[in-house]
Amino acid sequence: MKILEITGGTKLSGTIRISGAKNSAVALIPAAILADSKTTICNIPEITDTDNLCEILNHLGVVTKRASESIIIDPSNIKNNEIDEEYSKKLRASYYFMGALLGKYKKVVMYFPGGCSIGARPIDLHLKGFEALGAKVHIEGNKYTVEAEKLVGCPIYLDFASVGATINIMLAAVKAEGKTTIDNAAKEPEIVNVATFLNNMGAHITGAGTSTIKIEGVKHLHGCFHEVIPDRIEAGTYIIIGSLCGDNLKIDNIIPEHLDSLISKLQEIGAKLEIGPDYIIISKGENYKTTNIKTAPYPGFPTDLQQPFITLLTQCSGESKVEETIFENRFMNVPYLCQMGSDISIRNQTATIIGPNKLKGKEVVATDLRAGASLVAAALVADGKTMITNVEHILRGYENIVEKLTQVGAKIKSREI
Ligand code: UD1
Repeated sequence: MKILEITGGTKLSGTIRISGAKNSAVALIPAAILADSKTTICNIPEITDTDNLCEILNHLGVVTKRASESIIIDPSNIKNNEIDEEYSKKLRASYYFMGALLGKYKKVVMYFPGGCSIGARPIDLHLKGFEALGAKVHIEGNKYTVEAEKLVGCPIYLDFASVGATINIMLAAVKAEGKTTIDNAAKEPEIVNVATFLNNMGAHITGAGTSTIKIEGVKHLHGCFHEVIPDRIEAGTYIIIGSLCGDNLKIDNIIPEHLDSLISKLQEIGAKLEIGPDYIIISKGENYKTTNIKTAPYPGFPTDLQQPFITLLTQCSGESKVEETIFENRFMNVPYLCQMGSDISIRNQTATIIGPNKLKGKEVVATDLRAGASLVAAALVADGKTMITNVEHILRGYENIVEKLTQVGAKIKSREI
């Protein structure tokens, strides 16, 4: 088992370069199989989620070649093999093979996806979208067979602006006959990144980034060159860390507009930020004021930054509230933050944080990816040593976190026990 050992209390300065967005990359890799020829995607983060997707590609007979941050994906000899549970359960995004294989072959057989246990996370909206396009869905335990004689474009309304369902329906609809409209589509930057990729491959998608996406089906898609956008959640996590213990810490290679909701909350508490065209410089401020946040689909405050932000709120003077509206089980970091000395209570989907509290190093568990990020942030400001177990969760989403934090002065070590 891997653990992280962090000794808190050091000021962080220097530059952290943000990697490609996990949530884009994990959709782009499966999307690449829709092409008939080779694709190159650059700025791919080296995290276990992307490694696991490459394993699935190889299982399908797709040739992949990785060179540092790029990947070449050649689907010329792809076979529509069943995707076993051992592959699908390793990550949430394995479900993008549903849309991609259905779009390409009109048939996919695979198992329910894995990912962080932050709520029930059903995939009914994905399946309803496939059914609307003409597919039949057969479920046997955890195994899904989705099959269509032909896919025909149609209007689809999503009951919730789901990121996964919006992307999966786009993947299935790009090669459907005629026009598909997705209403109440998710508007996250990662969706725009995937739509741009598909258009570079020859698809006809308009409206990505708005709540109505229109897709005119095409017969063939070809390989192309594409770049993954910077990871706004990784950036947001390090910006939060900078507001806790930064000393002119530069978070570089970002798109600041993607972080507007976080930036305005940081400004509200009185954080010291300098915003450049593709970077933010942040230092620890004094006497932070409280604020309330409520998570919402983009451009609202991201659920993925809610947990790290709670760590920051433990250092604000007074009472703050955080309401989680997207996932039912996203406060699993809170008991550990309390063990470290913070004063947080949870009622229904709202956490009340009373600060500021001096945090102390403890043995804690990263129950999920962003809970892990919240604990890393807490450990960096805590007195003494924190030992974080279950760090596999953190490594699924943060490229080279140990190296990146060490480079700016953090005392952080990764150890096998
Ligand atoms: C994606 C992100 C995740 C982020 C989340 C919300 C990836 C790989 N993961 O997850 O990091 O936290 O968006 O920004 O991109 N829902 C249904 N039925 C469905 C689909 C979703 O009820 O078929 C519900 C979910 O349970 C949840 C809400 O809709 O309550 C939002 O989920 P969704 O946007 O789909 O999140 P994911 O795509 O799983």
